[in-house]
Amino acid sequence: MNTSRWIAAGSLAVASLIGVGVDTAIATPKMLSDAKKAGIAANNCQYCHTEAMPKKDTFKPEALNDRGKFMMDDMQKRNLKEPDPAALKNFTGGADKK
Ligand code: HEC
Repeated sequence: MNTSRWIAAGSLAVASLIGVGVDTAIATPKMLSDAKKAGIAANNCQYCHTEAMPKKDTFKPEALNDRGKFMMDDMQKRNLKEPDPAALKNFTGGADKK
């Protein structure tokens, strides 16, 4: 009569395993949340990337859009270890500033 309990426990374990898998599949949501913290209206990766879901092993700097490239420049100018989304406040857009 304890079979249903075992099944419940089993599916719980599977669910948490899947949960872990999903966590590691999301590559750099940190960039997105950092941007939001800095008051930047970034909703997805394409705010700075041309790809919908950039991955570490296939990432190329050319696949950044104007905003991403601006951050990359800023990062190199200021010798930062990671891009600083707050720098985007000085980004005036690629259209009028080439
Ligand atoms: C606010 C701008 C911005 C947003 C939003 C953003 N990125 Fe990036 N990302 C960059 C910049 C700039 C670089 C290049 C600088 C570097 O190498 O750290 C980069 C580099 C990367 C790299 C390669 C270097 C590394 O650190 O692994 C990956 C992978 C990546 N981004 C994934 C993502 C994913 C996935 C998202 C969405 C969940 C995302 N990014 C959203 C700006 C952004």
